[in-house]
Amino acid sequence: SATKPDPQDLLAWYDRHRRELPWRARAGETADPYRVWLSEIMLQQTTVAAVKPFYLNFLERFPTVEALAGAPAEAVMQAWAGLGYYSRARNLHACAKAVVDRHGGEFPSTEPELLKLPGIGAYTAAAVAAIAFNERAAAVDGNVERVMSRVFMVEEPLPKSKPLIRSLTAELVPEDRPGDFAQAVMDLGATICTPKRPACALCPWMRPCQARATGLQEMFPKKQKK
Ligand code: ADE
Repeated sequence: SATKPDPQDLLAWYDRHRRELPWRARAGETADPYRVWLSEIMLQQTTVAAVKPFYLNFLERFPTVEALAGAPAEAVMQAWAGLGYYSRARNLHACAKAVVDRHGGEFPSTEPELLKLPGIGAYTAAAVAAIAFNERAAAVDGNVERVMSRVFMVEEPLPKSKPLIRSLTAELVPEDRPGDFAQAVMDLGATICTPKRPACALCPWMRPCQARATGLQEMFPKKQKK
């Protein structure tokens, strides 16, 4: 039977292949929570390539959470224009104000506290806790769902399988590098474990991948028929 996927094999792959993205800290350094949070909000429903120029422009205009909190709503909306889903921008502004008013301008570091902030849901709370604070949080987005449903050959369809996928992911988060692990799974899903024709030969988890062992990797994740 298949061996368990080893988080350290994935991290070794990440150390060689990690994408250089403007919101990522250099290897071994911790990222600025404000930058991590801003990028994760922008990356919801928008691709990495589309986000990059908006992210850099936004950061230039609002370099800190204080600057964003103190800016007029119109200036925030103007910097967001083109990204779409404008409720995200309104929530973003409200969240910046809440961080300044309730937390003295420092993002809280734990999932439960992050969840209380406007516009921060389960995914964003886990991503910020893991990436900015190295908390052992499981950030599960669509890429992560695809990777885990293949590695563990999750037969139950989405969205029913979400709690199972969440706990399978949580069990794999390593003590030493939760933030790198979160981003490594995302990068694996974006570049190797793609929806169509995944590049399994290049995957650090090829051996333990249960879907790959049967040749059915493209059939996962299973989805509930609408
Ligand atoms: N998609 C969402 N968050 C991401 C991140 N931190 N790195 C790469 N892709 C992402």
